[in-house]
Amino acid sequence: MRAHAIQAGRFANCRILYSHLDNPEESLLSGTNNGKDVRGKANLKLKPDRVAMQDASAQMALLQFMTCNLPSTAVPASIHCDHMIVGEKGADADLPNSIAGNKEVFDFLESAAKKYGIEFWPPGAGIIHQSVLENYSAPGLMMLGTDSHTPNAGGLGAIAIGVGGADAVDALVDAPWELKAPKILGVRLEGELSGWASPKDVILNLAGQLTVRGGTGYLIEYFGPGVNTLSCTGMATACNMGAEVGATTSVFPFSPAHVPYLEATHRGSIARAAQQIANSPEERNLLRADSGAEYDKVITINLSTLEPHINGPFTPDLSTPLSKFKSLVEEKDWPKTFGAGLIGSCTNSSYQDMTRSEEIVKQASAAGLKPKADFFITPGSEQIRATLDRDQTLSTFAAAGGVVLANACGPCIGQWSRTDDVKKGEANAILTSYNRNFPGRNDGNRATMNFLASPELITAMTYSGSTTFNPMTDSIPTPSGKPFKFSPPKGSDLPSGGFAEGVAELQPTPGVPDPSVEVVVSPSSTRLALLDPFPAFPNSELTSLRVLYKVKGQCTTDTISAAGPWLKYKGHLPNISENTLIGAVNAATDEVNVAYDVDGTKSSIPDLAKRWKEQGQEWLVVAEHNYGEGSAREHAALQPRYLGGRIILAKSFARIHETNLKKQGIVPLTFANEADYDLLDACDEVATRGLLDVLKSGGKGEVELVVKKGGKETVIKTKHTLSEDQSAFVLAGSALNLLARNAMA
Ligand code: F3S
Repeated sequence: MRAHAIQAGRFANCRILYSHLDNPEESLLSGTNNGKDVRGKANLKLKPDRVAMQDASAQMALLQFMTCNLPSTAVPASIHCDHMIVGEKGADADLPNSIAGNKEVFDFLESAAKKYGIEFWPPGAGIIHQSVLENYSAPGLMMLGTDSHTPNAGGLGAIAIGVGGADAVDALVDAPWELKAPKILGVRLEGELSGWASPKDVILNLAGQLTVRGGTGYLIEYFGPGVNTLSCTGMATACNMGAEVGATTSVFPFSPAHVPYLEATHRGSIARAAQQIANSPEERNLLRADSGAEYDKVITINLSTLEPHINGPFTPDLSTPLSKFKSLVEEKDWPKTFGAGLIGSCTNSSYQDMTRSEEIVKQASAAGLKPKADFFITPGSEQIRATLDRDQTLSTFAAAGGVVLANACGPCIGQWSRTDDVKKGEANAILTSYNRNFPGRNDGNRATMNFLASPELITAMTYSGSTTFNPMTDSIPTPSGKPFKFSPPKGSDLPSGGFAEGVAELQPTPGVPDPSVEVVVSPSSTRLALLDPFPAFPNSELTSLRVLYKVKGQCTTDTISAAGPWLKYKGHLPNISENTLIGAVNAATDEVNVAYDVDGTKSSIPDLAKRWKEQGQEWLVVAEHNYGEGSAREHAALQPRYLGGRIILAKSFARIHETNLKKQGIVPLTFANEADYDLLDACDEVATRGLLDVLKSGGKGEVELVVKKGGKETVIKTKHTLSEDQSAFVLAGSALNLLARNAMA
């Protein structure tokens, strides 16, 4: 916890965020109305306390960190091997297979962790967000995580934000990390949950109110009397799925439930420190909002009347109260049966979640019932798995036919090797207690309808196998013919016998740097490649660029760097660059991923870019509006830069991608006159005028582009948003080059 805090009343909420400003005066005054209203305007420069990385995104984060030549990370950091583990037959079979299949990536991550002093959570040790909650999150902490659901840690009073690898590197090297000051969305909780309603239903309901974009640019801050009735892990579930409404992050104030959770997870000293702050009249508002705090928007949820919800299919904001779900299924003609109920994951595998589900299973077993759909359980960590094993919760699930998967992401991230006979493209339903339900998310089948609900509701519904079953009102016939009706589930927030530790081989390795360790990257690897620093900007204008491609219409980060099968190359920049812009539409021909060289030779876009890279021909891309919208995928900036891209000239940019381009040393320019888009064609020769001066003056001045074709020159006026820092990134070749240079100085 940082001792200093912003005392001004206008920063009443999210005080934790502002207490992590690198330079409060500069941050709060930059580009704003003299600091009077910074929300949504100021670019905050922040110094997070910690970084957590999952295995898929950690690869590029570490490869970039390595180019800075530092002996260790500047802040504590952890790596969690969770995303590359398949769920199929159960943990005992699945884990060794997944480790064997991803050995070189895990070896790389482990060796880098040892060298740079990063705590390493081996495959099967747990899912990043559950491990963070159990070990690292704390009231007042600010952390970054290379995963969208990093805000899960907000359940324990931390500001935790999901970022890309290059952003994580900022924190790892102690450079300030930039964030647009979020607006504050207050969610006032009243009343108390009871019966079937669970913390999951708070966020399922909120997602319905806000929609998937309604939280964009907001920090969601929970407040009100209902907060004190929730368990710590329940609050984490609500924060976790704040990502589903696009929020920057979500946070709960310090709450009485934090104390027993911290104590049970062996962090009694933090519990006492937080309690002391909360009791102090001078400091108590460091961990909660001031009374009368101003919110940009407020939504109220009454927990006492909240119904269980089911959200989906295909989008997490299609939210339906349980009592209305049956009629919606019938109206929409959704499948009336479902093939599998999957509970657990980073979102919902707490002791409370699992014991409430266990109690449902016990009720059903006592009535002689067996699940009618497949039933999978994913514990979020080895600690929770071992505790549930000791307390016989897992044996209760197993006796009912449940399959306990590895402590890893598995089916939540598409790593589900489904063994039932559902064919690709065949409409079918599943129920999960996960957080995302986009098409193809779980089993790679875009026709699978994933409905999101609480684990206890899913467990009960699994016994009917029917999407129209409402356990609050409906009965199931037992083998004896007697109808059986579930009672509302009961569970325990925390294990009365404390948490079990788990097996020794699934414990983390402490973060102690060891310079003698060699980071393992095989030169023949197809999945990992060390990064060479990008060359610095020349001490001259760029005189002979060529237009590689003129893009027509939408160009998202997925258009620029496709996901799916390409994800396995996330640590290998040359290989993943083979997908560069493959979704882009050619403005001249309407073809997708078809480019033409100066002599008319036809090829794919990445092939032309590679050929030009070999020839030393640097290039620019011309595009339309909102270039780089979609997920903040840093590869969409890294790949063009690797292949020789210098400028992206667009009608407009998505903000995060524009920043990512500058960080990788690419200059994003917009047309001063949009109609000038029509003046450019593929293969045109382009020279910059004024760019070097702009970069050298820290972003002052304008850039013109001189287009040469048919013996004629045309001048195109452009606009840019290069700040002083960003100009320095481009001059150095990339933000990392600058960091490395500063680190050596
Ligand atoms: Fe993993 Fe799914 Fe959570 S992919 S981190 S379990 S959202």
